[in-house]
Amino acid sequence: PTERNALAERAAALLKKHNAVLVAHYYVDGALQDLALATGGIVSDSLEMARFGRDHAAQTLVVAGVRFMGETAKILSPEKRVLMPDLDATCSLDLGCPADDFAAFCDAHPDRQVVVYANTSAAVKARADWMVTSSCALEIVADLHAKGQKVLWAPDRHLGRYIQEETGADMLMWNGACIVHDEFRGLELELLREQHPGALVLVHPESPKGVVEQADVVGSTSALIKAVVEGTAPAYIVATDNGILHRMRQLAPGKTLIEAPTAGNSATCKSCAHCPWMAMNGLANLVDCLESGQPQIHVEEDIRVKAQGCINRMLDFVA
Ligand code: 13P
Ligand code: SF4
Repeated sequence: PTERNALAERAAALLKKHNAVLVAHYYVDGALQDLALATGGIVSDSLEMARFGRDHAAQTLVVAGVRFMGETAKILSPEKRVLMPDLDATCSLDLGCPADDFAAFCDAHPDRQVVVYANTSAAVKARADWMVTSSCALEIVADLHAKGQKVLWAPDRHLGRYIQEETGADMLMWNGACIVHDEFRGLELELLREQHPGALVLVHPESPKGVVEQADVVGSTSALIKAVVEGTAPAYIVATDNGILHRMRQLAPGKTLIEAPTAGNSATCKSCAHCPWMAMNGLANLVDCLESGQPQIHVEEDIRVKAQGCINRMLDFVA
């Protein structure tokens, strides 16, 4: 703990020295979340991370999360320096949707509005009409559907199916999944609910259908935290990355939080309930990146401009 405290103090001093702000996701190490909040930064879902980075006056943004979050920050603020502790922190949804294959898919269906999840590369966003996050995907697709538009959706098949069922929109889907949420299991969740009859079930929509169907609340990480803070139930079963429990415990200290069951345990399954790429963010590599100014996010200008268009469409919609 003393070594971690010393690193956190060092990181705080470097953030101040470089006039930098830390933008963290709820799934990263709790020490980074605490540091972000203690130094004037933010811990939030991906939509709020994007807005906060864009609107903050600091000329250096340090993004503790995964690569697409750093890219989104750079796309929205090309004049700012965007640092990340480790650029290899990617996402299975991003990896599973290569830009060339995706462009061919879009070319084959020119009659559809192309809607992509935030968890994609800048090049995939550059080919899309809309970017959405889990906190606004449903509203945006519902609006397109109401206007008679057909949708090409990528990459998360579970989130896509959930939106399709909720809105009735005509959606052609890419077949991607989050390796963390894909491991939650409906049958085991039913059994767990029997053991905790008063508990509310909170589910991120990247989870499989059998899990989402049992949810009392389906939503983004911020929406799930709000549900715990505002809920009157004493206990909550949480089907998302267990990094979120840190902030939930801080904001709702008296409530019982229970992790939803996964296909395996930590001995058999490396991605069960915790994202291996989010876990690449630590205090030590945060300090390193602030000291060296590396690694930095760069996005090619022609891709950046196109990707900015599809992100801004979402930001204007939710404004
Ligand atoms: P949120 O936008 O809900 O925070 O989700 C991001 C993510 O990567 C979930 O796995
Ligand atoms: Fe991607 Fe899943 Fe990790 Fe989120 S939790 S960054 S969707 S792999």
